[in-house]
Amino acid sequence: MTDSSIKISVLFVCLGNICRSPMAEGVFRSLAKSHPRVGDVDSAGTGAYHTLNPPDDRTIDTLRRHGIIDYDHGARQVRTKDFHEFDYIFAMDAYNFNDLQRLQRRVETRGQKTKAKVMIFGDFGGRRKGEEVIDPYYGADSGFEEVYEQVTRFSKNFLEQVVYTST
Ligand code: 4NP
Repeated sequence: MTDSSIKISVLFVCLGNICRSPMAEGVFRSLAKSHPRVGDVDSAGTGAYHTLNPPDDRTIDTLRRHGIIDYDHGARQVRTKDFHEFDYIFAMDAYNFNDLQRLQRRVETRGQKTKAKVMIFGDFGGRRKGEEVIDPYYGADSGFEEVYEQVTRFSKNFLEQVVYTST
């Protein structure tokens, strides 16, 4: 028997929380719509440099080009309670992943058991193990289209493999 009251919450994490993780959040929200098994969805950065800034214009433009026009976000840094509140925390690259693991270990060594599964997002739907979402910040606009393709592929795989099949 399936229990649709069980909701899966997801946090997407990159460095600045203005390019990759907002793209992932916007795409994931759009694909999942208001599916009954999807709980809180948010994004954050390991760094605090861009706190409260909106997503990069190139992220917004890419989302809009793909019909996602209602996404709004203010950047924030990852916090301790994220490890208690989210079921999955998805790192965009290996640096983010290592930082998140270190933060989680620090919380747990204080004696607080956490529930979050910290993973590289590309573990779902990656063309190779641990496929990293490319960092488009300093590159050409085409990098943002590549990020869009990656996070769409990973989101669809995660939704199919975990969310839509969970009982
Ligand atoms: P994000 O991209 O981590 O995908 O949001 C970056 C945003 C800002 C910087 C680097 C990457 N930065 O150096 O300020």
